[in-house]
Amino acid sequence: MPTDNRKFHTRVIHAGQKPENWQGATLPPIFQSASHLHPTAEGLSETFAGRTSEHIYMRLSNPTNRVLEEKITALEGGKGSIVMSSGMAAITNACMAMLRAGDEFVTGNSLFMSTYVLFANIFKKYGITVRFVESTDLAAIECAINDRTRFLYLETIGNPKMDVPNLQQAASLAHSHGIPLLVDSTLATPYLCRPFEFGADVVIHSTTKYLSGHGDAAGGVVIDGGAFNWSTDRFADFKPFVDRKGALAYLDRVWREHHINFGTTQAPLHSYLTMVGLDTLALRMERHMANALTVVRFLKSRPEVTWINYAGLETSPSHTTARRQFNDLGFGGVIAFGLKDQATCFKFINSLKMIYHLANLGDCKTLVIHPYSSQYLSFPEDTRRQLSITPDLIRLSVGIEAAEDICDDLAQALDACR
Ligand SMILES: Cc1ncc(COP(=O)(O)O)c(C=O)c1O
Repeated sequence: MPTDNRKFHTRVIHAGQKPENWQGATLPPIFQSASHLHPTAEGLSETFAGRTSEHIYMRLSNPTNRVLEEKITALEGGKGSIVMSSGMAAITNACMAMLRAGDEFVTGNSLFMSTYVLFANIFKKYGITVRFVESTDLAAIECAINDRTRFLYLETIGNPKMDVPNLQQAASLAHSHGIPLLVDSTLATPYLCRPFEFGADVVIHSTTKYLSGHGDAAGGVVIDGGAFNWSTDRFADFKPFVDRKGALAYLDRVWREHHINFGTTQAPLHSYLTMVGLDTLALRMERHMANALTVVRFLKSRPEVTWINYAGLETSPSHTTARRQFNDLGFGGVIAFGLKDQATCFKFINSLKMIYHLANLGDCKTLVIHPYSSQYLSFPEDTRRQLSITPDLIRLSVGIEAAEDICDDLAQALDACR
């Protein structure tokens, strides 16, 4: 839980700030150095033994990255974090740190595309069984857990189904079986939801999205809540990490076994850019979500729009959970909606004048994509259906421009589809 009692809007700017260490600068310098000098052989040996936290080599850690880690740890209310080169690097390391050949895990089936590929295709090659279930179906989750299950994985807001699982119930269920809950909270951000407060054990973000907010830096982060008990028979293989790092055993394993050896290093420039963006996260999220509600109201009024998935709609099956879990602050900035068919979606996208057509979300600019013919192009039809990727689906990441201008652009593109 956050130890700093100031409000989120204040903490997002001031958490982890140490201008006294940066010659008075208000942002940390970009430490563009592959390795760091050590005055004595004894000192370097102590650092390698993990008894000091000096920096050694950029692949292992970096002072600019560490400032971002401290900021994000504080915002999520975790105990420690590691920033990585992308959201996918973070997801891969977060999962791999817990998996051995023969292991299993359970995941909601409302997943970002590359996460799905990693889980369904890549992990399979290494003898790992992944059990996919409906993210909001606790009974199905429970049925899928067995003695070999190592964790439960969920997205706070599923991309692109926009469903919102009940994290408190999912965490209790996972803990009752002695397994941790890992949550990809990219679409929610710590402004909207702090999964540790609901019992989650590990939180992951693609910082490429809302945390940086300007589409100028790739990155990911794994945050450890530090509360899970790794000293059980199921996790006997964690003993050396528990002995070394106690409550931060998991993060130590992520770092020691995976991050530094897979070389998923974050470039300090990207951490710096992410910190510049992070300062305005609260303001941006307020505007993203207010605009999203206006856009949803507008889309509802248009006969060309056949359906809308957005937890802010009272008719959404996720509405009640989202309201409670997101403290009535909003429902996120991404909307999924349907048009007549793929040809209509293409006509709509090609008619947009201001909204950017590209593969990203969480940027301050409004972004649109037709997932079926792009990110999911090579997926088998039955998998697309299972993931709710249909030919009529448009995904819209609502930006922070004037809502009126966003709606005007959508209106003229929908007019062109008539
Ligand atoms: C929910 C979610 N998680 C993870 C990722 C992967 O992040 P990155 O592109 O930074 O690897 C994405 C990317 O769109 C995402 O939407």
